[in-house]
Amino acid sequence: MIIHTKAYAKVNIGLSVLERREDGYHNLDTYFHLTELADDLTLEVEEGSVTTVTIEGNEDYLAPGQTDLMEKAAHLFSSLCDMTFSLKVSIEKHIPHQAGLGGGSSDAASVLLALNEAFGNSLSRDVLVTSSLALGSDVPFFVSGLCCAHGSSRGEILKEETAVDYPILIVFRPGDKVSTGKAFSLLDERTVASSPLPGWNADLSSWRGLYHNDFDFIQPILKDIAFSSIASRAPYSSTSGSGSSQILVFGSEEERVRLAKELAGFDMIISRFKKFHFE
Ligand code: C5P
Repeated sequence: MIIHTKAYAKVNIGLSVLERREDGYHNLDTYFHLTELADDLTLEVEEGSVTTVTIEGNEDYLAPGQTDLMEKAAHLFSSLCDMTFSLKVSIEKHIPHQAGLGGGSSDAASVLLALNEAFGNSLSRDVLVTSSLALGSDVPFFVSGLCCAHGSSRGEILKEETAVDYPILIVFRPGDKVSTGKAFSLLDERTVASSPLPGWNADLSSWRGLYHNDFDFIQPILKDIAFSSIASRAPYSSTSGSGSSQILVFGSEEERVRLAKELAGFDMIISRFKKFHFE
């Protein structure tokens, strides 16, 4: 069976890192929102007596000896369903790595969902959401099928919120990449405790006053005065996730085009929030 699917990137609108827990993770308070930016995946699944996974594509970021999260997702599905199969994934990556956009987590979630489809949807959405936390803190959101959700605990307690479709610019500097674990440990050096976020308000003009991201504190790009002064003129700008990408959100295409011209020296992806989810 051949399945073509997409793995969408997310951004965070507000991200409060609350207390460090006994298991080493931190409790979070955040709003996840899908974007139209996506990786393209083709999966070839065949039943077999043992589960094997091969991955090909422009995934050049894996360190030697590391197992891709998509491979872990396939083995998780195999053990949850007690099924064995051979899986070949071809991936065309568009989501930058270590950018706070959840690319690796979204790829893994898409593999889980596609395998579930291939095997007759034997696992319920709730089971997929709960068990996918073992793959990473962002995976439950991608598995949930929601476009916009409040996330708490590690991010696996999800409550649907009203999705929006504003245009966005995703700006990043490849040299600023930081792993999620390292970003959290840098944040542990803070002396001031974070506060929870207010409720969801879909009106963009309210966002600057309402939603902060604690990871702004450790982003080198925000020390670049040229970038910061341009970003501050967008209706909303913030780090996404633990960084390093910055999202600028606009009320109209015209506003976005105007500011994008001023950011010509930076790496940028033009996208928009995803309001409807058909996959
Ligand atoms: O869950 P995930 O694999 O994405 O987490 C990577 C690292 O980020 C964890 O090992 C942990 O150090 C940190 N983290 C955290 N609290 C969270 C999510 C991630 O401390 N809620």
